[in-house]
Amino acid sequence: MIFLFLFLNFQQLKACHVLIGLYVLSEDELNAMLPEGLPTGMLGEFKDSMRYALLVRQSFLDIRDNFRRIVDPSLQSTNGPKIRKQIVLDGPLCCGKSITLAMLVHWAREEGWLVLYVPRGREWTHGGYFYKNPQTGLWDTPLQAENVLKDFIKYNESHLRELPCQILDPIPLGEGAGVGLLKGVDSKEISEGSTLFDLVQMGINQMHASVGVVVRLRKELSLVKDIPVLIAIDQYNNWFTFSEYEEPVTIRSTRPVHARELAMVNAFRSMMHNDMMVGAFSHSTAVGKLRKDLPHVPVDARINLPRYSPDEAATVCHYYLRQRLVSREVFSEENWKKVYYLANGNGAEMRMLVPLMH
Ligand SMILES: *[C@@H]1O[C@H](CO)[C@@H](O)[C@H](O)[C@H]1NC(C)=O
Repeated sequence: MIFLFLFLNFQQLKACHVLIGLYVLSEDELNAMLPEGLPTGMLGEFKDSMRYALLVRQSFLDIRDNFRRIVDPSLQSTNGPKIRKQIVLDGPLCCGKSITLAMLVHWAREEGWLVLYVPRGREWTHGGYFYKNPQTGLWDTPLQAENVLKDFIKYNESHLRELPCQILDPIPLGEGAGVGLLKGVDSKEISEGSTLFDLVQMGINQMHASVGVVVRLRKELSLVKDIPVLIAIDQYNNWFTFSEYEEPVTIRSTRPVHARELAMVNAFRSMMHNDMMVGAFSHSTAVGKLRKDLPHVPVDARINLPRYSPDEAATVCHYYLRQRLVSREVFSEENWKKVYYLANGNGAEMRMLVPLMH
């Protein structure tokens, strides 16, 4: 069998409809497009195959086309697939949920969309400083807020400088990490003519405003009309379980704080709105089994990403052969199929097994 590899650049990927190809990137370009950080599965793939290339899967193209149809209704047809503005990517361990999400963010940014990408949603519920805000009854995590804001301006500052703030109510101030409240001031004004960049900058420079700014940013994102906005959250499942934080109840006992009690999670978790949002589950960071119907998530939002199909498996195995993860002498159709069935279509496992062919 002869295998033709299609190494696609972005323009070709845009035109790509129903083929299995490998999307080639450069390290610099990838870091520039996803400055918030890359999913670990993607880094493992690049390291082992010694090339910045990703399999373009049909499931990715379907999700991309779903969002493309939302912003360009001329692509919609009455008997086409149902369009969903909110999607939860689920599926077996290592089936490529995080990579699919990252590729979607990459695509949306190339299209000029405004994307809030959170590659590690688990960090919103773990570590750092936390305290209960008496004004909201929710728990504030100012260090996390600052990191999220810093990440958000990394990709394209000038984008944010062009978008005016539409809510001019003052931002409530909370405690700074470990330094308590500010004396004598409990809110910060947003001056007329401020942009989203100014808003985010305020949250970064003024520690006491950071959580308030993240919460406000969520509202502002709903109000952006000039460009499409996508909210993309990896490790989204961590927002439906208990956080790492505990509230002292008596001298000897504590109560675990649920993720929904955290101000930032509370602001961003819901999918019951009209905004475009994708959350990817990460079963490697899961704490327990989640119920089928998630609170504040539309029932039909969940999409199961399949393991590799035989065609996809054939493509990646031949690609690994080309990249010399395995030698020609031992590579055979029988052998790669064995790997496929042994790994049960799990991409990361196949990559581990291919070099072991003999
Ligand atoms: C950044 O945003 C500006 C203003 O919206 C836009 O003109 C420019 O093309 C964007 N740059 C990138 C790399 O997306």
